[in-house]
Amino acid sequence: MNSPFSRIGVVGAGAMGRGIVQLFAQAGVPVVLHDTQPSAVEAAMGHLRDTFARLVEKGKVSADAAQATLARVSSGENLSAFAGCDLVIEAIVERLDIKQTLFRALEDVLSPDAVIATNTSSLSVTAIAAAVRHPQRVAGYHFFNPVPLMRIVEVIGGPRTEPSVLTRLSELARQSGHVPVVCQDTPGFIVNHAGRAFGPESLKALGEGVTGYADIDRILREQVQIGGQGFKLGPFELLDLTGLDVSHPVMESIYHQYYEEARYKPSVIGAQRLAAGLLGRKVGEGFYRYAAGSVVADPALAESPAPAAPTGVRAWVARGPQQADVRALLEGLGATLDTGAQPSPDSLIVLTPLGIDATEAARGLDARRAVALDTLMPFGLRACKRRVMMTTPATGAEWRDRAHGLLAADGARVSVLRDSAGFIAQRVLAMIVSVGCEIAQQRVASPSDIDTAVRLGLGYPAGPLSMGDAIGPARVLEILEGMHRVTADPRYRPSAWLRRRALLGLSLLNDD
Ligand SMILES: NC(=O)c1ccc[n+]([C@@H]2O[C@H](COP(=O)([O-])OP(=O)(O)OC[C@H]3O[C@@H](n4cnc5c(N)ncnc54)[C@H](O)[C@@H]3O)[C@@H](O)[C@H]2O)c1
Repeated sequence: MNSPFSRIGVVGAGAMGRGIVQLFAQAGVPVVLHDTQPSAVEAAMGHLRDTFARLVEKGKVSADAAQATLARVSSGENLSAFAGCDLVIEAIVERLDIKQTLFRALEDVLSPDAVIATNTSSLSVTAIAAAVRHPQRVAGYHFFNPVPLMRIVEVIGGPRTEPSVLTRLSELARQSGHVPVVCQDTPGFIVNHAGRAFGPESLKALGEGVTGYADIDRILREQVQIGGQGFKLGPFELLDLTGLDVSHPVMESIYHQYYEEARYKPSVIGAQRLAAGLLGRKVGEGFYRYAAGSVVADPALAESPAPAAPTGVRAWVARGPQQADVRALLEGLGATLDTGAQPSPDSLIVLTPLGIDATEAARGLDARRAVALDTLMPFGLRACKRRVMMTTPATGAEWRDRAHGLLAADGARVSVLRDSAGFIAQRVLAMIVSVGCEIAQQRVASPSDIDTAVRLGLGYPAGPLSMGDAIGPARVLEILEGMHRVTADPRYRPSAWLRRRALLGLSLLNDD
C-alpha cells in the first residue's frame, strides 16, 4: 500500500504529539519528532518504548514489529530535521501567535508542496494558515486523546485549503486504521461543537434548581435508552473527567466565536466552580470527590429511598399519544384507573408533557394533585431502570409521595424533579439533536460524518442526527417548540434543518 506521505514530522512531544508519532510509525511511515524542550522528546521516546514493550508483553504486537516501528521514529533538535518531510503535524501549545510563528518557520525549511497540519482543538485553522505564504497547503488534523485508541480524526479545510490536501490526509488516516471525517473550519469543528449540549444543558437545568447533579447523572445514565444503549457517563461525571479548566473555556470560546449564540451559552456554575479550583478528578475534587482514582461515596448525594407503594390510589391520565401505555403502567403498579373525561376529585392527576412544564400541562386541572411523568424513553412495567416524574410548585407533598411510591412499585428507581420545561432527558436529548442539526445546516460536514464523528469522538449511544431519528424528528420538534414557548429562551428555537425534515417526514440524515 502506497502511503500518501513518505516522511512525517511531528512538532510537540506532549500527550498528542507522542500519540500521533505512535500511530503513523505503526502504520509504516518514518516519523521525525521535535520539541523545543529536549526533555519532552526524551520522555516521549521513553513512553513509546514502554508502550511497545507492554504491547509485546500482551501479545498484541510481535517483538519484530515493535522494533521496526521504534526504528521508524527519530528526533530532531531543530526544525531543519523536517527538511525531507512531505507532511508536518503541529501539536504544540494552544496559542495562535506561537502556532503562527512556528508555521512561518516551517515554511522556510519545507518544500513548497509539503503539507502543514495543525492539531488545534479550538483555534481557527484559517487564522493559523493566514500566517504563511502558501495557505493552500495548511489543514486541520484534529486527533483525540489518547490518539491510538480514539479512532476518529477531523480533517479540516479552511477557505484556501487545496481539496487534494484533505484527500491525502484522509487517506493517510484510513491507512493507519483511523476514521477521517472531512469538515469545514468552523468553531469547534464537529465534535467540540456537537458537545455543546450534553454538559451545558445539564448545567442549565442544575442552575434552575430542577434537581441535583448526581440525580441528573443518574437520569442520563439510566433513563436514556437509544437503540438499547444509554450514556456511559453522566454529564457531571464527564466534566470531572475532562476537567473544568479544559471544558469551561471551550464552552466560552464556542459561545463567543458564534457571536453570543444563545444555544451555546455557558453556565455561571461552570465559571464559579472553575474559579474555586473544583476542576475534577485531576485535583481530587470536582462535582464529586476522588481518592486513589475512585469516587468517594457521599451520603449527601445518595438517592433517598422511595416511599412505600401506596394502596387504593385512583389515577387519571391526561389525554396524549401514550395515554393507553401510561394507564397500563399505573394499573400494573396497583392503581385504579379513573377513565373519566375529567379527573374525579380524589384522583391523582398524571400528565405526560413533551417540551412544556408540568405547570403548563396542568392548566385547567387541580395542580395540587398533579404530577408529570416523562414518557420520552421506555417507562413500561418492569421495562426500565429509571422513571422520571416532576411536580408543579402547587403539587401537594402527599400527592407527590403517593405518585413516587406508585412509580417505584415494580422496583424501578424514580427521580423526582421540580418543574422544568422538558424534564431532564427531553431537554438534554433535544438540545443534542438541535446542535447536531445546526452543524448539518451549516454544512460543516456531511450528515453521516457528523454522526460518525460524534459517536466515536464523544462515545454517545448514537450520533445526534440518528438520535433525533430514533426519537422521531416530529417529537424533537415538539419538545423544542414547547421549551421555547414556555421559557421564551432563544436557546431552544428549533433549527431549520430539524423543522423542515420533521414537517416533511424525512430522516435528519437526509441531505439536500
Ligand atoms: N490534550 C488533548 O486532549 C488534546 C486533544 C486534541 C487536540 N489537542 C491539541 O493538541 C495540541 C497539543 O496538546 P497537548 O495536550 O499534546 O499539549 P502538551 O502540553 O501535552 O504538549 C505540548 C508540547 O509542545 C511543546 N512546545 C510548545 N511550544 C513549542 C514550539 N514553539 N515548538 C516546539 N514545541 C513546542 C511543549 O514543550 C510540549 O512538550 C494543542 O493544540 C491542543 O489544543 C489536545
